[in-house]
Amino acid sequence: MGIHERFWLVILIAAPLAVIAAELPIARPGCPDKCGNVNIPYPFGTREGCYHDQNFYISCNHTYGLPLAFIQDSELNVTDITLEGRMQIMQFIAHDCYNKSGHPIYDNNPWLRVGLNGSYTISDTENKFVAVGCDTYAWVEGFQGNNTYATGCRTECDSIDYVTNHNCSGIGCCKTSIAKGTNYFIVTVKSFSNHTRVWNFNPCSYGFVVEESKFDFTPDDLRRLQKVNKLPMVLDWSIRDVNDACGESIKDNACQGNSSCVRVDNDRYRCKCLEGFEGNPYLPGGCQDINECLNPNILNECKGMICTNTIGSYNCSCYEGYHHVEISGKEVCVANQQYDWKRILIPVGIGGLALLLVVGTWLSWGYNKWKLIKLRQKFFMQNGGLMLQQQLSNHEGSAETTKIFTAEELEKATNNFDESEIIGQGGYGTVYKGTLRDGRIVAIKKSRIIDQSQNEQFINEVVILSQINHRNVVKLLGCCLEIEVPLLVYEFITNGTLHHHIHNKRQASSLTWEIRLRIAAETAGVLSYLHSAASTPVIHRDIKSTNILLDDSYTAKVSDFGISRLISQDQAGLSTVVQGTIGYLDPEYLHTSQLTEKSDVYSFGVVLLELLIGESVLSFDRAEEERNLSMYFLSAIKDNCLGKILDGSIVNEANIEQLNEVADLARKCLSVKGEERPTMKEVAMELEGLRMMTKHPWVNELRDAEEVEYLLGETSDKSGHDFDASGSMTVVSNTFPSQVELAIRNGR
Ligand SMILES: *[C@@H]1O[C@H](CO)[C@@H](O)[C@H](O)[C@H]1NC(C)=O
Ligand SMILES: *[C@@H]1O[C@H](CO)[C@@H](O)[C@H](O)[C@H]1NC(C)=O
Ligand SMILES: *[C@@H]1O[C@H](CO)[C@@H](O)[C@H](O)[C@H]1NC(C)=O
Ligand SMILES: *[C@@H]1O[C@H](CO)[C@@H](O)[C@H](O)[C@H]1NC(C)=O
Ligand SMILES: *[C@@H]1O[C@H](CO)[C@@H](O)[C@H](O)[C@H]1NC(C)=O
Ligand SMILES: *[C@@H]1O[C@H](CO)[C@@H](O)[C@H](O)[C@H]1NC(C)=O
Ligand SMILES: *[C@@H]1O[C@H](CO)[C@@H](O)[C@H](O)[C@H]1NC(C)=O
Ligand SMILES: *[C@@H]1O[C@H](CO)[C@@H](O)[C@H](O)[C@H]1NC(C)=O
Ligand SMILES: *[C@@H]1O[C@H](CO)[C@@H](O)[C@H](O)[C@H]1NC(C)=O
Repeated sequence: MGIHERFWLVILIAAPLAVIAAELPIARPGCPDKCGNVNIPYPFGTREGCYHDQNFYISCNHTYGLPLAFIQDSELNVTDITLEGRMQIMQFIAHDCYNKSGHPIYDNNPWLRVGLNGSYTISDTENKFVAVGCDTYAWVEGFQGNNTYATGCRTECDSIDYVTNHNCSGIGCCKTSIAKGTNYFIVTVKSFSNHTRVWNFNPCSYGFVVEESKFDFTPDDLRRLQKVNKLPMVLDWSIRDVNDACGESIKDNACQGNSSCVRVDNDRYRCKCLEGFEGNPYLPGGCQDINECLNPNILNECKGMICTNTIGSYNCSCYEGYHHVEISGKEVCVANQQYDWKRILIPVGIGGLALLLVVGTWLSWGYNKWKLIKLRQKFFMQNGGLMLQQQLSNHEGSAETTKIFTAEELEKATNNFDESEIIGQGGYGTVYKGTLRDGRIVAIKKSRIIDQSQNEQFINEVVILSQINHRNVVKLLGCCLEIEVPLLVYEFITNGTLHHHIHNKRQASSLTWEIRLRIAAETAGVLSYLHSAASTPVIHRDIKSTNILLDDSYTAKVSDFGISRLISQDQAGLSTVVQGTIGYLDPEYLHTSQLTEKSDVYSFGVVLLELLIGESVLSFDRAEEERNLSMYFLSAIKDNCLGKILDGSIVNEANIEQLNEVADLARKCLSVKGEERPTMKEVAMELEGLRMMTKHPWVNELRDAEEVEYLLGETSDKSGHDFDASGSMTVVSNTFPSQVELAIRNGR
């Protein structure tokens, strides 16, 4: 597998791998890592041998429906623990409640003392002390080790009407901060007049320490909190070490490999995975290297380069043949043998001021040129140039026939992509006519949008066409990758599309039956060649009259291999995204998404109908069930009135039998079941057989001398020219027409 393919593969599999990477063990081996919904990472544990010390014991109580985690043996349930030293618990709130006549009915003073030996403190950054009520004063007494302090607030109001929503600003609600390092507190709430004046809307005073972001005060709380028992609160945790935390002396350092010790204060510390590692730093082997190359942001940073994961870091390096250059702080890859900064800058240092002026001019010219080269290289890479180069070199012999054009050359050829040079436009993009310096006239296809899928189609087309060498296939001369959108350069086919000739009344009449039959036979020959004879079988997938071009002598040239597929032997019945053109699309393929050669047979059948009937593939002029040309045709066959629908300009007495045979062939091609359709080889043989029966002397007028010889059977070697690798066609050319038919029949 090549570097570039691997690069794409990484993108495809990045998402699932990232999930796997996140599933490193967090608990000691054999210890539960969850209690209900709560992760229990070591140093925490739910039973002896699973936690670091008694401080980190979590009791997991299964008597409730869902197991609940409690901090040590308290009634405070733990709802979240992170390895960054944060623990969320549910803490009681203080109530002071009265009945309507001012008699106290409920009063409590919750307290919290956490960490037997100071492993926990109340987070001063995430919590606030809050008092709620309209006849309320409340305070919290805190302990920082042996030092005590008290803080609190007072809130009074006469009516609920001016209590503000979402705003704990003193009316109905007040708040104050908690001191850093508090490990023990008691909350007290009191009222001034036993809530008698405000009882209607506020029967209690409340006080609590709460995670600030989880408490949004609303006037309803004045009553509602009476029913609420606990609110979330955040603790900071760390490991206590009475001897100098993180110092040299400690033997019992809990921090394991690839992690570092972080001092919280003199006698407490936490552990942290080193940069570039993730996992649980308290477990042996818990910190594992992060594969940064699976991270889409990093991949983006390494765009156009190879991302290599290293232990603890990563590395963006250039593809072979390119080297790093730093430009205004950004690393970019530049092809070797391009402008070398040192070679430009050293003369500046040596030379005098005058020289500097000259060199400066040269430098800016060089820089601009270099910038352009760099931009073109960027597009070259973006357009999959490397992928293409590699693909082409995999298929030896094709590289020299497919030329890579420069942007400049094609701009000159098309008069800078002048609108007057446009000869076709479609969903894929625009086709320009151009004249190369050597005088050759070419068609240049410029795709419309630049997105990845478009690029793949583009490369697909180049790779497929570079392997096909057939006189009835439009020849790809080369491509250009140096501008924003990729360009393909084809031989110029002079006479437009088959579709144009069939559906343009004036031109349809010059398309005699003999010419139509030849176009059909040539197209069938190409498909037969693609399916069986090309070095790797190819399914065209988009056979239609607009993709069959005609030259001045009405020779068919099949084009547009944008969605074609190379099929290796073991891929028969390839499953793909259904693509194609409505009206030509094989109904079985549409239904099953199984791509086989028989899909091309179906599409070819529709082209045969167009040649026979001369009507559009989809027409709203026809009855609803006959809008589709194949339906129209099949119902005419059923009603035995084929004669009525055939294109008037091709029906004459001499060929009625041929028309019937071709119609019958089309009917078989349009079979609903793929397996009932003939192969393209059989179709090609039958059409070729029919052509040879034509006796009109002027049929050969349009053919070149070589093919006249072929019909006379004088040069059997040359007769195989059309179908280079299709051995069976050689047999046909040496056989009499009657035997041809026989051969076909036996073949089925
Ligand atoms: C807490 O400290 C006491 C004495 O200072 C000691 O006996 C006890 O083992 C310590 N507990 C933990 C869990 O470290
Ligand atoms: C679980 O909780 C119930 C009710 O609070 C209590 O009675 C029981 O002792 C607890 N069990 C454990 C193992 O802590
Ligand atoms: C906390 O525990 C109590 C029982 O003690 C339970 O009713 C409540 O749902 C728990 N809360 C959470 C958030 O787990
Ligand atoms: C309030 O409680 C006191 C003492 O329990 C009682 O005498 C009084 O009737 C109660 N008032 C109301 C309105 O319930
Ligand atoms: C208010 O409550 C206190 C006890 O909290 C009680 O001693 C006092 O008598 C009450 N006052 C009224 C007017 O009920
Ligand atoms: C707290 O008080 C105890 C006993 O009064 C004493 O042993 C200890 O050293 C004090 N701690 C601090 C941090 O002052
Ligand atoms: C909260 O109240 C204060 C003072 O009344 C006011 O300045 C602030 O805009 C209010 N904030 C919100 C979110 O209502
Ligand atoms: C550090 O991480 C690397 C890569 O994940 C691993 O191979 C190595 O064993 C780790 N070292 C320790 C001491 O765990
Ligand atoms: C990055 O990778 C390249 C190629 O593997 C190597 O030459 C270079 O030394 C690496 N740089 C660092 C910083 O690891």
